[in-house]
Amino acid sequence: MRILLTGGTGFVGGAAAADLAQRGLLPQTIFLVRAASPEQGCERLRDNLLRFGATAAQAQAVTPAQVICGDLTGIDAFAESPLLAGLTHVIHCAALATFSSNPKIWASNVDGTLALARAVIARSQLTRWLQVGTAMCCGPGLASPVHESWEAGLQDDTHLVPYTRSKVAVEHALRALPGLPLVVARPSIVVGHSTLGCAPSPSIFWVFRMAFALERFTCAPDERIDIIPADWCARALVSLCLKPTLAHDLYHVSAGLGSNRFTEIDAAYAAARGTEPIAPRYQQVEVDRLRELVPLFEQRLGKVNRLLILRALMLYGAFAELNYVFDNSRLLAEGIDAAPPLAGYIAECVRTSESVPMTEQMAHDFK
Ligand SMILES: NC(=O)c1ccc[n+]([C@@H]2O[C@H](COP(=O)([O-])OP(=O)(O)OC[C@H]3O[C@@H](n4cnc5c(N)ncnc54)[C@H](OP(=O)(O)O)[C@@H]3O)[C@@H](O)[C@H]2O)c1
Repeated sequence: MRILLTGGTGFVGGAAAADLAQRGLLPQTIFLVRAASPEQGCERLRDNLLRFGATAAQAQAVTPAQVICGDLTGIDAFAESPLLAGLTHVIHCAALATFSSNPKIWASNVDGTLALARAVIARSQLTRWLQVGTAMCCGPGLASPVHESWEAGLQDDTHLVPYTRSKVAVEHALRALPGLPLVVARPSIVVGHSTLGCAPSPSIFWVFRMAFALERFTCAPDERIDIIPADWCARALVSLCLKPTLAHDLYHVSAGLGSNRFTEIDAAYAAARGTEPIAPRYQQVEVDRLRELVPLFEQRLGKVNRLLILRALMLYGAFAELNYVFDNSRLLAEGIDAAPPLAGYIAECVRTSESVPMTEQMAHDFK
């Protein structure tokens, strides 16, 4: 077995690298990393492995000889790398995962991914290409729980952000590639780590912090919010990649109907902070009316860039307003344990966020 992991310096890919470490598979893994040299790429991978709780010995097990330096937007520079030969499994996590309108989204997530897949197929006899998608690529207007579907999300103009459109487009382009043993895994919303909280990455947790501080957001109090921790997500992704046979070629990696309701998350968040839940004062606000909250920003969030906060709340609020949970019965039927609910590990997210300003956490998601 010889695995290629992309995105190993990121949130989901870093958790996947740590999971491969736990399985003793790092020596058989090749990494695609943006770096000036294999040594620098190796350092980046090791630092991230440590952030995800790998031991120093596990991190040191990664060597520069396992690193391909490269960017998805410039595959030609490394398409002939001997490290792309003899691969059996690919876990493709790398992507420009942002709700901003970064002009490189399409070049990285669609064109670059396709070029990488072509380069790998040309040099390797793959058993599986595990494409990490996003459950939110299904687009709006569906009934919850949302079931896996190749058809949903195809209408370009319905996407809330270019990122989800790119993720659905690349899946279809990969499906059309002859010889690619494609399985798509679509995580729901990844927040924190079940034991390390937000220490490895603060991604998206700031949305909860803001909603609780403002005592207002777009979701209904009894709404379930489909959140999964990075380590569980990674375990599921690696399992889907390595399992010899699978019943399907498309999976949600999600908490589904096991997701906590907003009120349950509120209660656990308050307990972790030693405060009272906001439930009695909570107001659900439609996305279009979020701008009415601007006068509250400074009072509740401190000195902030009002426009930036409003934009962030509107983007994340629009997704929350969809009120989706993603059916995970396919995943569970493959023998993968259900995700630990956010309320069970939010205390660690709170503890590891205490000294970090919300706006600093937010910057992570606006690349
Ligand atoms: N986080 C979530 O809630 C969530 C939910 C559903 C699905 N996903 C999916 O999970 C995957 C990883 O997301 P994430 O949250 O882990 O994002 P992330 O923390 O931003 O990590 C992205 C990774 O991709 C790499 N990357 C980005 N652009 C690249 C390029 N042009 N060439 C090579 N590498 C590139 C980054 O490398 P650098 O370190 O060099 O920047 C980093 O390693 C994505 O496919 C995303 O769609 C995430």
